[in-house]
Amino acid sequence: MTSVANTAAAPARDPGALVDVQNLKIHFPILTGVFQTEAGRVRAVDDISFEIRKGETLGLVGESGCGKTTTGRALIRLRNPTAGKVFFDGRDLMSLSRGELRRMRRRMQIIFQDPYGSLNPRMTVGSIVSEPLETHHLSSGHRMDRVRELLALVGLNPNYTNRYPHEFSGGQRQRIGIARALAVEPEFIVCDEPISALDVSIQAQVLNLLVELREQFGLTYLFIAHDLSVVRHISDRVGVMYLGKLVELGPPTAIYESPGHPYTRALLSAVPIPDPKAERKRRRVILTGDVPSPVNPPSGCRFHTRCWLYERLGRPENCRTEDPPLRQIGDDHRAACHYAEDALKSDVGVAHLEDRVRRGTPAAVAARHEAAAQAAVPHEQGAGVAGTGE
Ligand SMILES: Nc1ncnc2c1ncn2[C@@H]1O[C@H](COP(=O)(O)OP(=O)(O)OP(=O)(O)O)[C@@H](O)[C@H]1O
Ligand code: SF4
Ligand SMILES: [Mg+2]
Repeated sequence: MTSVANTAAAPARDPGALVDVQNLKIHFPILTGVFQTEAGRVRAVDDISFEIRKGETLGLVGESGCGKTTTGRALIRLRNPTAGKVFFDGRDLMSLSRGELRRMRRRMQIIFQDPYGSLNPRMTVGSIVSEPLETHHLSSGHRMDRVRELLALVGLNPNYTNRYPHEFSGGQRQRIGIARALAVEPEFIVCDEPISALDVSIQAQVLNLLVELREQFGLTYLFIAHDLSVVRHISDRVGVMYLGKLVELGPPTAIYESPGHPYTRALLSAVPIPDPKAERKRRRVILTGDVPSPVNPPSGCRFHTRCWLYERLGRPENCRTEDPPLRQIGDDHRAACHYAEDALKSDVGVAHLEDRVRRGTPAAVAARHEAAAQAAVPHEQGAGVAGTGE
């Protein structure tokens, strides 16, 4: 086994970052009794650092309660940090005056998970979408034209401005939420599980819409999801959270094909593969036990109470005593595990390599195409000659 001392320096700050999160902590005090004394703290987010680069989609996944929403809200200053800093385009969000913060807010928006609860049922769609325009004094004089334009942009009938949210389906309501977020022409949008509450049949439509809008307007997204499979195809990088910590961060190839954190491998084990043969061969781990409480998280590595690698390695002491830092383990790939090198060598959670090579790699696909083209050549030549009519 290969353990790495807990001395890894934090990676240099990324000059291409639009959002830069440094040692962010968000703790919620638990107040009890008549005097509201602090009995403890929910360590919802506990010292995480990462960056979101301009124009990228960063997927953020993890089990319920691990701190995804709290992180997303802090990034647009809907939550104030207990400690640490969030920089947006180089500016520390906590250092902004009220006026500066209002102007900055125009550049950052949020789309909520619940398309039912996030729209005021007493407001018409026109007022919901035009509200941010009023707040930021935009499009005065032709606001309803702008609202109609936004509704059309998200695939809704532009004449629906006088309707109320209850007259729309879940997918349509989420489109209204997206139109509202786009109204102020933001650069950065926190998408907090925007498709989780929708029927499976319309999840793909809303996902496609978000991808199209990103291309059209050059948006940067933090895309929060429970499930690794949702963010796979839309993310430039994926971050994995566990109990208030960021435990792995990297491009999809690293996260889905050679994850360096045992927790990521456990999450991957739960993602079904549409290939029964590969599924049968896959080595999976089932996460046992409940997620520990963020009020009193385990010592050392927070995952050690559920970690299959810790058990396999004979319960090494440093897993219980030292909090592993998020360190570089590959090209643009970071993980917070003392034994990430051992995790990398394992094939737990990942689809069987041979099957992947045989069925899906670009080289295999190219070879199949070439073989098919070779086989078709005489036929095509014949068709070409016949087609000229000459
Ligand atoms: N306002 C609050 N006061 C106290 N505790 C809070 C508050 N908001 C969140 N928490 C707690 O902080 C932790 C992280 O919550 P958060 O909503 O960020 O998790 P999440 O990863 O988004 O979960 P889910 O996937 O269920 O949405 C949870 O234990 C939650 O109970
Ligand atoms: S540091 Fe130890 S307990 Fe934590 S994930 Fe790595 S092997 Fe498991
Ligand atoms: Mg959440």
